[in-house]
Amino acid sequence: MTIETAEDLSELKKIGRIVAVTLQGMIEKTEPGMTTGELDLVGKSLLESYGARSAPKITYNFPGYTCISINEEAAHGIPGDRVIQPGDVVNIDVSAEKNGYFADTGGTFVVPPGNFIKDKLIASTQLALTEACHVARADRPLNEIGKSIQKVARQTGFRIIQNLCSHGVGRSLHEEPGEIPGYYVPGDRRILHEGLVITIEPFLSTKSRIVSEGSDGWTLTGEPGNLSAQFEHTMVITKGKPILLTVV
Ligand code: CO
Ligand code: CO
Repeated sequence: MTIETAEDLSELKKIGRIVAVTLQGMIEKTEPGMTTGELDLVGKSLLESYGARSAPKITYNFPGYTCISINEEAAHGIPGDRVIQPGDVVNIDVSAEKNGYFADTGGTFVVPPGNFIKDKLIASTQLALTEACHVARADRPLNEIGKSIQKVARQTGFRIIQNLCSHGVGRSLHEEPGEIPGYYVPGDRRILHEGLVITIEPFLSTKSRIVSEGSDGWTLTGEPGNLSAQFEHTMVITKGKPILLTVV
């Protein structure tokens, strides 16, 4: 969506804060020995306490309230019986709706103990998001987002998962301007405009450039032993720094 009124901005800030607080609350509650299903219920109760509804559930009938993806799972992991182990790389993605407005956030962390490669993967993906936010400006090419993510991936030695993209958001979970690739597409002529609401969500990985859907019809997994990380913010494009909505 493109913001048109002060109410648009204030409602987006509300739902942005709700998903950010929910993500933070879930990260704080994560412990080895708990199942992803139990962790998802933490997210469910936080969302409900703020009067928000899980966006993947109401949009795609996703079988969970949040997406929890571990180790070789890159995204759209279904919460369930999987027991969280020490050393797991955990990605939680929280998106939700309130009063007709949607926001989407995500983050990745290691359940201690970490190691060099896991910590570097996570820090590099976080850096990719920060760098991409620096080039996301009104009147500049949209493909500079992918270009800056690609630059960080090259510098840090990780791969980009090419079939997981950033996207427009706001009045629904996925909307115009459609998918925003996490790598440089020279022929993409789209220009960012003031008030446009998008996510930026780089996915870096140790091995895989493509992830594929598992037999559950949801979970996107790389090759065996692949690890990936994602960080995601929803933001409003301006002539200066984007307004980050998914902040506490
Ligand atoms: Co998300
Ligand atoms: Co998203």
